[in-house]
Amino acid sequence: MEIKLSSSPFTSLAPEDTLALLCTAEALREDPALLELDHAHDGYISKIVEREGFKATWDKVHVLRMAPPGPGLVLLIGLDEGLLPTGLQLRQAGGLALERAKSHGAKKLTISLIGRLPKESSRSTVTRFLTEGALLSAHQRFTHKKKTENREDIDLLILSWPGQDTLVLEQSVSRAQLVAKAINTARDLVNEPAGTLTPSSLADKVAGFAGVGMEVKKHGPEWLKNKGMGGILGVGAGSAVEPRLIEVSYTPSQSDMGELLLVGKGVTFDSGGLSLKPGDSMKTMKHDMAGAAVLAGISAILSELAPNRPIRILLAAAENMPSGSAVKLGDVLHMYDGKTVEVMNTDAEGRLVLADALAYGTEYGPEAAIDVATLTGASVMALGRLCAAVMGSSEELVKNILSSSEHAGELIWQLPLIPFYKKQLETKMADMKNVGERWGGAITAGLFLSEFVGETPWAHLDIAGPSWIDKAQPAFPEGGTGFGVGTLVELISPMAD
Ligand code: BES
Ligand code: ZN
Ligand code: ZN
Repeated sequence: MEIKLSSSPFTSLAPEDTLALLCTAEALREDPALLELDHAHDGYISKIVEREGFKATWDKVHVLRMAPPGPGLVLLIGLDEGLLPTGLQLRQAGGLALERAKSHGAKKLTISLIGRLPKESSRSTVTRFLTEGALLSAHQRFTHKKKTENREDIDLLILSWPGQDTLVLEQSVSRAQLVAKAINTARDLVNEPAGTLTPSSLADKVAGFAGVGMEVKKHGPEWLKNKGMGGILGVGAGSAVEPRLIEVSYTPSQSDMGELLLVGKGVTFDSGGLSLKPGDSMKTMKHDMAGAAVLAGISAILSELAPNRPIRILLAAAENMPSGSAVKLGDVLHMYDGKTVEVMNTDAEGRLVLADALAYGTEYGPEAAIDVATLTGASVMALGRLCAAVMGSSEELVKNILSSSEHAGELIWQLPLIPFYKKQLETKMADMKNVGERWGGAITAGLFLSEFVGETPWAHLDIAGPSWIDKAQPAFPEGGTGFGVGTLVELISPMAD
């Protein structure tokens, strides 16, 4: 899909064109560009809107068929502010516009937001989110259906700001294209069944993503044994497929900045191991590598994004299965940093693979470390399906993540790392055990990880809730969502407004 910006009036559009207008009810009465089109039709639009009533709810689309001059089809899409962060709502609106235009057989779609800008947004952010939403919804998803739907695509998308200077918005379109590419890459990885997306195939794919200034190493079982990575090996011990630690390094051509370490949970299937999950909660556990997928998506755009900062990405990939060779309850794992961990629940495996990767990655002396993981059901209980949890040893880093998430249209909320809860991880047998009590499970998981980062300023993102959706929404087809990509891209390379 080609994307362009335009500053021409709506009346210059042709009968075969489709125009999607994102608007509030006031905008329909006041926006000069729309009034011009309305006047050219002797008030047809305002009469229809008055007669049928226009409710600005995000999921309603009013369809108007128009005679010349101007577009043959106008879609009015409501923006009801306040329900969701503006970015999220605009992304959905962009997706909805594309979906509807497609269902009317359009080949060319012009999208415009009329009336005043939604709060805390600018032309540049609106352009970015609408483009992102359209690209996310345009992405063809691979399925194994024998009969595929014959979906016609939109060839040309135009972001229209009548009478405005659009040159300055070009960088917003390019940024949206990069972010959408990373999100779509992450989604594809999450949606691929665990039968084919194994730790080794994930490693091969990530190696294929590497661009200029990047190096990818795929560390297998021998290397993991030599390094003493008992956490990753332990989690993978029951599986017929081998674990991997995937190490991606990005070095900018010139930089005096310290390294950023990003670590992703890459459990390609979480059956729970011997602490087997009950059927229903296992159904979607191919997405337990969503943290790794987010970072793999970012790897795929890193050399184009070209941040001025060295970045090391570690994906801790293993399959968590029950079998005769699986880790048993009461087993003690010897972790990379020398600590011992008594396994009291094999379903608390994410923290074990992350611990080795964090301990290894922080040895390089990064300026900051962030891990991303579908770590706990407790974080979903706390914050629901739309919002991720963040916690960390560095308030500054956590604040930075929270403000990046606001700019990226993702919901993230901070949980406290309450030191007293660390007692829950004490055991007589080893330095720690891998689970605490049921209550506050997202926090004890975070506290466990905090033991493996030394003094490095660190933050942990638990994306168990928002990384997957069961019910499709515009711009969010069911399955993997790519949640986290937007926030981390913004953090790595902030976009000036
Ligand atoms: N992968 C799960 C967490 C999860 C739950 C991700 C729901 C996505 C949606 C994780 O490995 C897990 O099973 N955690 C346990 C920890 C418990 C045994 C301490 C949990 O949350 O129940
Ligand atoms: Zn688990
Ligand atoms: Zn898991």
